[in-house]
Amino acid sequence: MDKDKTIIIGSDHAAFELKEKIKTYLFQKGYQIEDAGTDSDVSVNYVDYGKKVAGSVSSGEYTKGILLCGSGLGMSMVANRFANVRAALCSDMFSAKMSRLHNDSNILVLGGRLIGEALAFALVQIWLDTAFEGGRHLDRIKSIDQ
Ligand code: RB5
Repeated sequence: MDKDKTIIIGSDHAAFELKEKIKTYLFQKGYQIEDAGTDSDVSVNYVDYGKKVAGSVSSGEYTKGILLCGSGLGMSMVANRFANVRAALCSDMFSAKMSRLHNDSNILVLGGRLIGEALAFALVQIWLDTAFEGGRHLDRIKSIDQ
């Protein structure tokens, strides 16, 4: 498995459709996807899927993850409880870029009831293409888990 090219993704029912579209988008861009579910639009508890994705990023099994729920709020609350996880809920390009540049975000969170697919693809792309700046930001992000 090429860790840099493999992304774990998960959503609840409210963002299932957008998750599937993002999977196709990423597949076409040459990424490998690990889908943590859910697998339909039947109502589920977002926490279960958030824990799966955040747990595997926290442990280092995956270096990057994408989480989606209706608003993105629940998923970001769950994910940011895990050590080493820096989950960024983004609905604009500036935040998506800055979350990588300054915060080295390792989970991108999107709200399926908030944004359309074109913006979602653009956010995913800029998030994946932007490298962490390091430098003065390194000690800051390290201190989050201390
Ligand atoms: C599901 O209705 C909704 O509550 C969930 O997708 C999410 O937005 C929670 O934060």
